[in-house]
Amino acid sequence: MDSWTVTSALLLAGFISSAAFNHFDTECYTANGEDYRGFQNQTSLHGGKPCLFWNETFQHPYNTLKYPNGEGGLGSHNYCRNPDGDVQPWCYIADHEDGIYWRYCDIPSCQMPGNLGCFKDSGDPPTLSGTSETSNKLTIQNCISFCRKQRYKLAGMESGYACFCGNEVDLHDHGESPSMECNHVCFGDHTQPCGGDGWVIIFDTRVGACGGNYTDPSGVIYSPDFPDKYGAGRVCYWTIQVPGSSAILFNFTFFDISDQTDMVELLDGYTNQVVARFDWRSPPRELVNITGDFVILYFYSDRTNQAQGFALLYQALRSQDTRTTDAERDDEDEGEEVSSTAGPQLAGGVTERANSTS
Ligand SMILES: *[C@@H]1O[C@H](CO)[C@@H](O)[C@H](O)[C@H]1NC(C)=O
Ligand SMILES: *[C@@H]1O[C@H](CO)[C@@H](O)[C@H](O)[C@H]1NC(C)=O
Ligand SMILES: *[C@@H]1O[C@H](CO)[C@@H](O)[C@H](O)[C@H]1NC(C)=O
Ligand SMILES: *[C@@H]1O[C@H](CO)[C@@H](O)[C@H](O)[C@H]1NC(C)=O
Ligand SMILES: *[C@@H]1O[C@H](CO)[C@@H](O)[C@H](O)[C@H]1NC(C)=O
Repeated sequence: MDSWTVTSALLLAGFISSAAFNHFDTECYTANGEDYRGFQNQTSLHGGKPCLFWNETFQHPYNTLKYPNGEGGLGSHNYCRNPDGDVQPWCYIADHEDGIYWRYCDIPSCQMPGNLGCFKDSGDPPTLSGTSETSNKLTIQNCISFCRKQRYKLAGMESGYACFCGNEVDLHDHGESPSMECNHVCFGDHTQPCGGDGWVIIFDTRVGACGGNYTDPSGVIYSPDFPDKYGAGRVCYWTIQVPGSSAILFNFTFFDISDQTDMVELLDGYTNQVVARFDWRSPPRELVNITGDFVILYFYSDRTNQAQGFALLYQALRSQDTRTTDAERDDEDEGEEVSSTAGPQLAGGVTERANSTS
């Protein structure tokens, strides 16, 4: 399936807010792909340059001698990685005549949920036609917050310093491009991509919101201010209520909480009892399975120290029909997720795990 076609249709139909977070066929949950651990070993799938092996790039700063313990995902392989907090995964390539010895990798599967992609912007009319601003301190989240406060669904960054808000993108006029066109650094954070000249990178404004209400069978939730570090003194609640589900699974795809009092909790939505609590001392280590159809996610940060925060995937499991016996029940239905039109990969994975434990 071409997930891009689906996105286009949804963008045009203005359904973006429910669609964007359902793209789980991704290998990245950070804006710059520093969590990418996939297997692309050339700079582009079409006519790209082969990557050099990290265990053979001793003439360059990043190699397995200097980082022998898998830091940044380096190892005896030649997969694209982002070990230095660049805007996108990259790799060393054999030297060119013009002295270029590394290249960004264009990895289609590495686009965090909530990042809708990179779009052409002729400026006439702009791709996102709502309010705009420019800032020499632009970060992805301060553009998102600017647009979210004005109740826009989408926020777009361009040329590193410009921010545009809107509710939909007309893809007939503004085709999507490889992410390489959008890897200009944000003026306010050089580890984040903020579009390019004539190219706008677009995010759903729910990314990094402090709170929200989720009712879809699956979704992604980021810590407040994501992909910036979370702010001091944040107290946020999200509700995840999926009527008809027997349990909701939470998968923290990463977790970086900095000091003793900052924390994340999962509460039973009906009783407000804390079911799971995580902090820097006790990070989540596996899937968290919470019985019921209503969970509250709580985040608290004190007045000191900031950190990247978290990204989590949730997936609701459908209630089992208690009237049928095991023999009558279709095996494939067992522990199945509440049906969803998107996110087949995550859904498949959870179903498999659910089956194997029963
Ligand atoms: C990349 O990986 C594939 C699959 O493992 C392999 O067939 C191919 O030769 C590799 N390409 C390079 C440039 O290393
Ligand atoms: C680097 O790792 C690859 C794959 O394991 C291996 O084939 C190659 O010989 C290694 N190179 C060196 C210099 O050790
Ligand atoms: C979530 O729902 C609650 C209760 O209905 C409401 O007060 C709150 O404003 C909602 N939050 C968001 C971000 O929509
Ligand atoms: C959590 O999600 C990630 C990203 O989709 C996946 O690779 C991983 O296997 C999941 N973890 C568990 C325990 O299911
Ligand atoms: C989660 O818990 C529910 C019921 O409490 C159970 O049916 C399901 O198999 C569990 N799933 C996983 C993946 O542990």
